[in-house]
Amino acid sequence: MRKPFIAANWKMHKNIAESVDFVNQIKDKLPDPAKVEVGIAPQAFALYSMVQAARNSGLKIIAQNAAAEYNGPFTGEISLRGLHDLGINYAMLGHIERRRLFGENNTAVHKKVKAALQMGVTPIICTDETMVQKEVNGEIHYVFQQLMSVLHGVSLDQIRNVVISYEPSWAVGVGQHANVALAEEGCRTIRRTIADNYTYEIADKIRILYGGSVNPDNIKDLMAKPDIDGVLIGRASLDVDNFLKMVNYLDDGKANQQVGK
Ligand code: PGA
Repeated sequence: MRKPFIAANWKMHKNIAESVDFVNQIKDKLPDPAKVEVGIAPQAFALYSMVQAARNSGLKIIAQNAAAEYNGPFTGEISLRGLHDLGINYAMLGHIERRRLFGENNTAVHKKVKAALQMGVTPIICTDETMVQKEVNGEIHYVFQQLMSVLHGVSLDQIRNVVISYEPSWAVGVGQHANVALAEEGCRTIRRTIADNYTYEIADKIRILYGGSVNPDNIKDLMAKPDIDGVLIGRASLDVDNFLKMVNYLDDGKANQQVGK
């Protein structure tokens, strides 16, 4: 039973007032938390206010990033210890923009993943690949290598507590339509990687999200794919109406089917 997970990544958008106002507008219109999990990753300075605003709504508040160290001389970093104290459930780690724009590599992401697991904050491990990387490697996808490097030393028990996202660079923030077949192929590759390196039972339980140009028009097609358990949404999640359409994508009665897939 993999519960669908719809997560908004607000990146560097919305101040505190805008973030809280958004939560106040959506919180009574969210899907049944037993059927669909919904989360928002605001900017770091809005996390506290978002946690307060989301109280009792079932909405999860997600950190966009976190440091591998819990305390110490790491100016400008965000501590997992602080996030945990705040009641943050999830931290996105290794997002493609962190890797491409801020030089995060697999080693750095690996340390963060281990630290998050130890702290009890569920990592949303972000993987990505370019079209060239995918094609050059043919059957052995780049994303497979990236994932295995980041998961190095993550135990059988710990792997049960991760969420993985697949965000190919050709679809993130570029305004192109998400290619549903390629999205499913990437997520399937990740599931196979987990099955090969852990167990089939774990691979069957782990949630794998797709990210990149998800919008109200394509979310149903994406969520209908067997290996896509959720989505990470950037631009389209910034607007209340779009957000509500996407998180309520099951309103046509498919809810029970999805939870059981
Ligand atoms: P996008 O971003 O939906 O704007 O393509 C997705 C993401 O970066 O998570």
